[in-house]
Amino acid sequence: MISERINEILNEQINKEFYSGYLYLSMSAYLKELGLNGFASWMKHQAREEVEHGLKIFDYLINCNSFVTLKQIRTPEFEFQGILSIFNNIYEHEQCITRAIMTVAKHAEEECDRTTLNFIDWYISEQVEEEETVKNIIKRLELFGDDKVALYLMDKELAERTV
Ligand code: FEO
Repeated sequence: MISERINEILNEQINKEFYSGYLYLSMSAYLKELGLNGFASWMKHQAREEVEHGLKIFDYLINCNSFVTLKQIRTPEFEFQGILSIFNNIYEHEQCITRAIMTVAKHAEEECDRTTLNFIDWYISEQVEEEETVKNIIKRLELFGDDKVALYLMDKELAERTV
């Protein structure tokens, strides 16, 4: 049985995950416009993953006989200042998401809600992975992002992402 409070924060989390998808899709369109097709494709995959994250919570609530309350998704940014700023922006955004996931875990712990704690564990590991991946891209962009050949090779590499 999921409490009202846990239900509320999980519904908010669905919205945050869908918003992340929206934001990354907007970034993908911007990258495509820059001609960075590999980065754009990577970002589109990221957007899909975020939607999956939202759907996973959606399914969890339904499986627990709890209510799903879908809220309005706000408009994402669509003007960006170059590729490095985009990834710095993602890193900050993912840190916010990590804090939101930790809040779910904190409340579940306080309520001894083992089921939700078990469920949210997957998200905690996923956030570690996501933050690390984005940080690595930032480090590489900082190292050689101004070198057009290096950027071209990185774009090619990111184009290979399939899931
Ligand atoms: Fe679903 Fe990138 O957090």
